[in-house]
Amino acid sequence: MINKQTPDTSNHISVMLDESIAGLNINPNGRYVDATFGRGGHSAAILDKLSEKGSLLAFDKDPDAIAFAKKRFGKDTRFQCHHGSYSDMFEVVEACGLFPVDGILFDLGVSSPQLDVAERGFSHDKDGPLDMRMDNSKGMTAEEWLDTVSEAELFEVLKKYGEEKCSAIIAKAIIENRTNQKINCTSQLVKLIQDNLRYYQKNKNPATRTFQAIRIAVNDELKDLEKVLERIIELLNHNGRIVFISFQSLEHKIIKTFIKKHTAGNEDVDINSSVMTQRKSPQLKRIGRGGVSSFERKDNRRSRSAWMRIVEKI
Ligand SMILES: C[S@@+](CC[C@H](N)C(=O)[O-])C[C@H]1O[C@@H](n2cnc3c(N)ncnc32)[C@H](O)[C@@H]1O
Repeated sequence: MINKQTPDTSNHISVMLDESIAGLNINPNGRYVDATFGRGGHSAAILDKLSEKGSLLAFDKDPDAIAFAKKRFGKDTRFQCHHGSYSDMFEVVEACGLFPVDGILFDLGVSSPQLDVAERGFSHDKDGPLDMRMDNSKGMTAEEWLDTVSEAELFEVLKKYGEEKCSAIIAKAIIENRTNQKINCTSQLVKLIQDNLRYYQKNKNPATRTFQAIRIAVNDELKDLEKVLERIIELLNHNGRIVFISFQSLEHKIIKTFIKKHTAGNEDVDINSSVMTQRKSPQLKRIGRGGVSSFERKDNRRSRSAWMRIVEKI
């Protein structure tokens, strides 16, 4: 029986599940990649559509997600998982002998177990250590990062990754405060922000954007996304698809820029401007895009900002 105080770490409601699986247009004998396993809702739905000849490779940075993947699908010979960033997808797919793949799914951001377990430090609503690492087996925690970052860099991170209007005030408050006392728990950071902002919407936690910005910085989230997109088209089979589910404007922007660069309408791009003009033909076509339904949004509040985009290799 689950203790009410203990979050159920197996629980994540998969976002846009039916639409994203339909978007992959699964070939039962095909090879697929789930770039962000989480608790495997999308992986399970992909495996359901695969024959004995099909295969699925899943990635996650989070050791808990990978432990869960091994427990849930470890006996399924069609399934493999990789603990690490999807930014290494090209090398891992090749090493697993899965090249080329028929579809890749990204469901970006954090999972419910990551948000619900206070010790992970992702949530401004739960008091816990300031950790925020998706891979909590290595790297700098949010506490260590905040303890060493310069005011200028902190300001930039809050402005760029958090789109926080009060970046200067918050950066100054954090840097001044840390000289007297280490900022080592989530409630301390929330209080510091509340104490230093004169005005904020009372129904919205004023630390939301700061938490988002620090999380993105600590986990190199946008750099990982930009890196994987550099060679992702090479990984795809003809008619192979990529389904992206993204949740915030910076992710949307990177995905939109990638799609725009490789789809029709971009044939006039001069790829070697100073020497000669070559025409680069489009490598992808748009299959569809859309936001989350009002029904799903009502059912699962965490899905509310989700946006899906589907492309196919031509
Ligand atoms: C929204 S959850 C995925 C939920 C999953 N689709 C499901 O149905 O259970 C996002 C997951 O991606 C992982 N993740 C985020 N960025 C990653 C990266 N660069 N490489 C590998 N995993 C990443 C997170 O640790 C988290 O477990």
